Amino acid sequence: MQQRELGKTGLKVSAMALGTMTWGNQNTLEDGFAQMDYALEQGVNLFDAAEFYPVPSRAEYCGRTEEIIGEWFRRTGNREKVVLASKVCGPTAWCPHIRGGEARLDAKNIIAACEGSLGRLQTDRIDLYQTHWPDRNTHYFGKRGFRHTEEEQFTPPEETLRALEQLVKQGKVRHIGVSNETPWGVMRHLHASETQELPRIASIQNPYSLLNRTFEIGLAEIACREDVGLLAYSPLGFGVLSGKYLDGQMPDGSRLALFPNYTRYSGAQADAATAAYVDLAREHGLVPAQMALAFVLRQPFLTSCIVGATTMDQLKENLGAKDVSLSDEVLDGIEDVARQHPDPCP
Ligand SMILES: NC(=O)c1ccc[n+]([C@@H]2O[C@H](COP(=O)([O-])OP(=O)(O)OC[C@H]3O[C@@H](n4cnc5c(N)ncnc54)[C@H](OP(=O)(O)O)[C@@H]3O)[C@@H](O)[C@H]2O)c1
Repeated sequence: MQQRELGKTGLKVSAMALGTMTWGNQNTLEDGFAQMDYALEQGVNLFDAAEFYPVPSRAEYCGRTEEIIGEWFRRTGNREKVVLASKVCGPTAWCPHIRGGEARLDAKNIIAACEGSLGRLQTDRIDLYQTHWPDRNTHYFGKRGFRHTEEEQFTPPEETLRALEQLVKQGKVRHIGVSNETPWGVMRHLHASETQELPRIASIQNPYSLLNRTFEIGLAEIACREDVGLLAYSPLGFGVLSGKYLDGQMPDGSRLALFPNYTRYSGAQADAATAAYVDLAREHGLVPAQMALAFVLRQPFLTSCIVGATTMDQLKENLGAKDVSLSDEVLDGIEDVARQHPDPCP
């Protein structure tokens, strides 16, 4: 497994990271343990959690993902082998179970969130603590475009960084990152760090896949020039890029069967693009999911590709993508499809 530098931190992380957001709902504690054991064996050292997980986030089991990881650390003693990432929620008006629906990216909330995560994770520090989504109106989670309102109140990134700085000074957080951010947000964080000597973000955790290459507009240049790489989430577009939902199929127990309102990677445009990528993979003797992941892995702005799996077979197939190289013919084919179906799922 290739190792890459996490921003300017000097820390090395594996080019493939282990996603965790199904553990505690779709997956059991035992499933999570088996995934962590196998991933570690395969050279994966970066695990990505969140106070919000598992998804869909619900009061009755919120936090269970971090508890599973914490329990695994306790039983295996593997804490020091892992670069542990977690996230603090942005505003949660739509999630009353997270700080009464009043979470913001301010000191009070960030400190409370971090203490909660540390307890569940049974550790004294988080290696990469990320803001899960911005504390302002902008476009993320599939929303296109931006509508500005002059009167909007939000927590300025400098205030968020000052709160995170307290945790860094206390040794509870080693490095920080953002998620679901825009070019404005990333540059604003970097500017504040430089001008006010605040901690510097090391990574941008955003969606990136064959169905959503919007990171390439704006953020890719920032990632490379500013040394703040992408941690790509949903690299298979919720599993859609495996091809398993094509022709109206809806496999039992799959994410879209269980959670039909997860429509971010569904619809006619997504289906047409997926069918074309799946055909291309098969024409070249590739497994569609592995072609999709190998495409993400070869991007120069990528630090790590966060894979998600609900079965060991999926995890093995996905981590196997590290050994798949894409020929010029396949890469040209991918660009042809992308020209015909540009970013169907932002
Ligand atoms: N920052 C954020 O806002 C954010 C958002 C989303 C995710 N994330 C992070 O990124 C990680 C990965 O995201 P994701 O789960 O959306 O990634 P994904 O790769 O797009 O989807 C993973 C899902 O697809 C299905 N799948 C995976 N491999 C497959 C294969 N080889 N063949 C067929 N189906 C397969 C599985 O679901 P089923 O078996 O249920 O179909 C699996 O849970 C998460 O765990 C989390 O750590 C972060």
